[in-house]
Amino acid sequence: MVEVSRHDIVIVGGGAAGLRAAIAAAEADPGASIGLVSKVYPMRSHTVSAEGGAAAVAREDDNLELHGYDTVKGSDFLGDQNVIEYFVEQAPKELALLENWGCPWSRNEDGSVATRAFGGMSTKRTWYAADKVGFHMLHALFQHSMRYDNIVRYDEYFVTKLLTDGGQVRGVAALDIRSGEMQAVLGNAVVITSGGAGKIFPFTTNGMIKTGDGMSLAYREGVALKDMEFVQYHPTGLPGTGILITEATRGEGGYLRNAKGERFLVDYDYGLGTKAELGPRDMISRAIIQEFEAGRGCEGAYGEYVRLDLTHLGEEKINARLPFVRELSKIYVGVDPVHEPIPIRPVVHYMMGGIDTDVEAATSLPGLYAAGEVACASLNGANRLGSNSLTECLVFGASAGRNALAFSKQGSDGNEQTLRSQAEEEAARIDSLRSKSGSEKISRIRGDLNGAMESGCGVYRQQDTMQACVESIDQLKARVADLGLEDGSKVFNTELIAALELVAMLDVAEAVANAALQRKESRGAHTCRDFTSRDDVNYLHHSLAWYEASGRPRIDKKEVTLGHWEPEERKY
Ligand code: FUM
Repeated sequence: MVEVSRHDIVIVGGGAAGLRAAIAAAEADPGASIGLVSKVYPMRSHTVSAEGGAAAVAREDDNLELHGYDTVKGSDFLGDQNVIEYFVEQAPKELALLENWGCPWSRNEDGSVATRAFGGMSTKRTWYAADKVGFHMLHALFQHSMRYDNIVRYDEYFVTKLLTDGGQVRGVAALDIRSGEMQAVLGNAVVITSGGAGKIFPFTTNGMIKTGDGMSLAYREGVALKDMEFVQYHPTGLPGTGILITEATRGEGGYLRNAKGERFLVDYDYGLGTKAELGPRDMISRAIIQEFEAGRGCEGAYGEYVRLDLTHLGEEKINARLPFVRELSKIYVGVDPVHEPIPIRPVVHYMMGGIDTDVEAATSLPGLYAAGEVACASLNGANRLGSNSLTECLVFGASAGRNALAFSKQGSDGNEQTLRSQAEEEAARIDSLRSKSGSEKISRIRGDLNGAMESGCGVYRQQDTMQACVESIDQLKARVADLGLEDGSKVFNTELIAALELVAMLDVAEAVANAALQRKESRGAHTCRDFTSRDDVNYLHHSLAWYEASGRPRIDKKEVTLGHWEPEERKY
């Protein structure tokens, strides 16, 4: 018999957005009970690996209008302007609040909060704590969350299904990874904050846990995934591991150099001349690929790369502002950036798309909310500006927590027996997966998926390679049915978890590839060699991918919320 626990709301994901949601709900009603379910211990959430900073207006030469405009322009005019306006207004309050909870923002000499330059931002707007921002933010949030007895944690529980009754979400079926037992964690609203899905690509800054589980949960329950074709490549990842070398390196004055030692971005043809290393990520990633294609890349064990040169910054500045970059470079590529440039290449970093939500973080399924990278509100449109996402987790995490709690107080509880039976069906389904016989291996399918995504949905895309990618995903989905699992045990069965993650990854991948194939223009991170310009007449709209139980997803459109920032040519 499945154990049942009941809360007012249930949050799935224990990173920045999830913890912020939990705190907001706990503060809004100290009497409410909040279940926080996470597949890893919260301090191991991917937020911890964020490095460069979080954006919010702080300086006298800055204002909300400018932050809004930069974000709209960065999004290639696909961001929803009501969402962007709400975001920029809330951002400074959220970052100040985080300081009250213990986040040690770096300071200027006069004691004011220090800010650094980031790509595509008109002024220094990125708050930082050296280059370990995610670590400090997550610590502050986690420690603050422990003040609230009404936040009940389920650490190392993997959610396999949303439970619904009466057309409303009413909780989750969660597998306790330690015991292998299924539990029904009920609540009259659910907030998904489980992060992105970079692991569908081979070279990514994303940790092993970022397999799109939360996107898949909503998708399979009939909620659309929005703007999935927009996948962000970060220009500076380490070759091989994909480990992030923060954009703060360029914000602090670093240069990118090709094999000839040239600072190639200075005279690049996106109008990057004045911005150079401080251009937006989509444009810089394309410029690097063009350098490779022109024969100006350096050859390495993991393909071509260019170099990130920090040597002119000096040891003192590197130690003060970029200590983690120095540490990572020394350990993972044997390079001390004080003395030599760091080899880097574009690597997948962030999904602009995600669960379709509105400015209130609500989805089309009553009671279901989402925030952070898993969601698409849409703040980021076709290209996110670096350092907007940590702030996004706070702003929309907080509103998701508050709004979900308010929703949970309406109406009556679902039928416990109905919900228990759904969880029991899930328990039986999961049981049948353990030691399932079949000739396919998780690692083989995952490897083939990575290859298909890189060749079909990389920095540059073509109709024929996207088509091939869509077909490969069809085949991979068919192969999953013949998956063989060797571990029949219950306790910490990581093979079982990897199988569940693989199914989620395929869901996300099919949404990315099918939406990409249908967008016949180039906008932001979706750069199509067959349709090289932006086409506002036919494509100034969001795409929605709807799950189909058999076959490919159905793709349709959703209007972009425009406002006073008129679409214009995007030049830097
Ligand atoms: O480069 C970085 O530090 C990444 C920041 C971001 O993605 O917002």
